[in-house]
Amino acid sequence: MRFRSASGLPTQAASCWPTTPPGAGSGRANAGSGRKDYGEFKAWWSSTGKLLEAAEWGMSRVVATGAVSQNEMVDIECFDGSRKTILNSAMPIYDADGQIRACIAVNQEITDLKRVQDDLVRVRNQLAALSGAALSIQEQERKRLSMELHDEIGQTLSALKIVVETARRHCKNKTLADYMQQASEMADTLVSDVREIARRLRPPPLDDLGLVAALRWHLDRVARAATLEVRFDAETLTQRLSSDLELGCFRIAQEAVSNVMRHAAASCLTVTLEKNNHHLTLCVRDDGCGFAPESLFAELNHPLGLLGMRERAAMLGGELRVRSTPGQGAEVQAIFPLGG
Ligand SMILES: Nc1ncnc2c1ncn2[C@@H]1O[C@H](COP(=O)(O)OP(=O)(O)OP(=O)(O)O)[C@@H](O)[C@H]1O
Ligand SMILES: [Mg+2]
Repeated sequence: MRFRSASGLPTQAASCWPTTPPGAGSGRANAGSGRKDYGEFKAWWSSTGKLLEAAEWGMSRVVATGAVSQNEMVDIECFDGSRKTILNSAMPIYDADGQIRACIAVNQEITDLKRVQDDLVRVRNQLAALSGAALSIQEQERKRLSMELHDEIGQTLSALKIVVETARRHCKNKTLADYMQQASEMADTLVSDVREIARRLRPPPLDDLGLVAALRWHLDRVARAATLEVRFDAETLTQRLSSDLELGCFRIAQEAVSNVMRHAAASCLTVTLEKNNHHLTLCVRDDGCGFAPESLFAELNHPLGLLGMRERAAMLGGELRVRSTPGQGAEVQAIFPLGG
């Protein structure tokens, strides 16, 4: 493609290219052809990296069809070999007979802006990969801790209780026996506390019985501990899903429900799981005080709950939608694609 020399192009915000012959829609912007301050250079579509053919330039299309093009991002190789990124726009100028006589081209150099944008995308991807790795390490750690608490500490405490009980039964001294009774009761409390912590770290129904059973188990506990009405519907989900999806969906539901309990002052909480051939949709809705999610996501020191839910959904190829208006409750929706 022949254009004004590269030293001119990036700094030259706007230029006018005559068509030759006037009005000819040849599909080539041959402006300046034959002049020594014009030359050829290579260009690529920024979005795809595909080489830009001569006829694909906005100017060429303007001359060929009159179609206006706006802000097309193009990477160019200048004559000195350097690369620049421009936003290229083009529009036709018509004569009194309606023939295209010239083309106005506007090139805005955005090399630095594009570099910063590329860096941002790279850093964003790195952060997403990091937070994905952190979440998966956290899950492994929870599982390990849960098993250790249950199998090691839980079993040792149970054994301790048996030993103390046996000693108490054989003890002739009443005062000592009373102390041992107390120790035995404390061991009982410790055993059930440790089991509860282990269960909270990794709900047993999730691995064994799946997402629906685990959510029902969790919501039962929530309903018992709170005064609000809890509704759960998962009729369309009759099969097990991949363990990653079940775990991710459970953790999102857990956080969304915890938010309702902590912040909403709601009287009713509704959790639904809906599956069709293509998607699984989790919805956690409340009729509480509501909030303004947009302003939260814009904050630099954003709290981690909503952000974590969004990351988890993205890790599973899905998305998180949060809808809420102050005073009118809130709805968190996580939509996950189902392969096949
Ligand atoms: N269902 C809800 N009803 C009312 N406000 C909510 C609800 N869910 C979230 N919020 C508001 O959004 C804020 C951000 O929630 P987020 O879960 O990100 O953080 P958090 O719960 O405050 O802290 P954490 O990091 O422990 O989760 C909350 O502090 C609360 O003000
Ligand atoms: Mg939270």
